[in-house]
Amino acid sequence: MSLAGRKRGFSPRAAGAAGKEWPQLPRRRSWIPDSPVNPSPRILAFSGSARRDSLNKKLLAVVVEAARAAGGEVALIDLNDFPLPLYHGDLEDEHGLPEPARQLVRLVTEHHALLIASPEYNSLITPLLKNTIDWCTRAEPNPFAGKVAAVVSASPGQYGGVRSAQLARHLLTHLGCHVVPAQCSVPRADEAFDAQGALTDTRARKAAERVAAELVRTTLRLLD
Ligand SMILES: Cc1cc2nc3c(=O)[nH]c(=O)nc-3n(C[C@H](O)[C@H](O)[C@H](O)COP(=O)(O)O)c2cc1C
Repeated sequence: MSLAGRKRGFSPRAAGAAGKEWPQLPRRRSWIPDSPVNPSPRILAFSGSARRDSLNKKLLAVVVEAARAAGGEVALIDLNDFPLPLYHGDLEDEHGLPEPARQLVRLVTEHHALLIASPEYNSLITPLLKNTIDWCTRAEPNPFAGKVAAVVSASPGQYGGVRSAQLARHLLTHLGCHVVPAQCSVPRADEAFDAQGALTDTRARKAAERVAAELVRTTLRLLD
C-alpha cells in the first residue's frame, strides 16, 4: 500500500521527505550470525532503563546468559546507544524517522525474538521504553509483528515492577508479538544481586531461567 494512501494517523512518512535529514550515526554492524543456516533463535535484548546502575539491566544480563545457555543467539543492546527525541508528529513530518530509530527497526527486523526488561515508573512502563517502541512502530511494516517476546522486570519495591511488566506484555501483544507466558519480576531488586551480578534468591533465579528457556524454545518452534 502506498504511504500516501494510508490514513494520516498511521502513515509513516519517508525520512527526509520534507526537510533536513537527521544526523547520521555511524552505521552499526549487523548482529546477525554469519551463517545463513544458523538454526539458533536470534534474540534482541534491551532494558527500558538506560541508567548506568539499572537493576533491570542487571536482571536482563542474568536472563541473557540463561538464554545463551539455552541455545539462543542474543544481541544485548543499550538504549543509550539509540538516543531518540520524544516522539512528535511534526518532527516526523519534517525529518522522518531518526537514524537511531531506523537502526532499531533494522535490529528488530533482523531478530526472531525480543527480550525486554521493563522498569516501573508510577505503575507504568518507562517513557524511554514507550518512546522507543512508539518511534519503531512508525516504520512500515510494523517490525514487531510476528516476533516472539518475553518481558522481565525488577524494582526495589515489593511488587518487582510486575504492573509495568504486564503493561509491556499487553503492548507487545497489541503490536503482534507472541509473548511467552513465563514471567519474572524481581522485588527488592536493590538487594537481589550479589557482587558478580547473580540473583541470590533461588526462586528468582529459576524464574529468570524459565523465561529464557521458554523464549528460546518457543522461538525455535515458530522458526520455519
Ligand atoms: C518517576 C519514578 C516512578 C517510580 N514508580 C515506581 C512504581 O510505580 N513502582 C515501583 O516498583 N518502582 C517505582 N519507581 C522506582 C523504580 O522501580 C526504581 O527507580 C528502579 O531502580 C528503576 O529501574 P532501573 O533500576 O532499572 O533504572 C519509580 C522511580 C521513578 C524514577
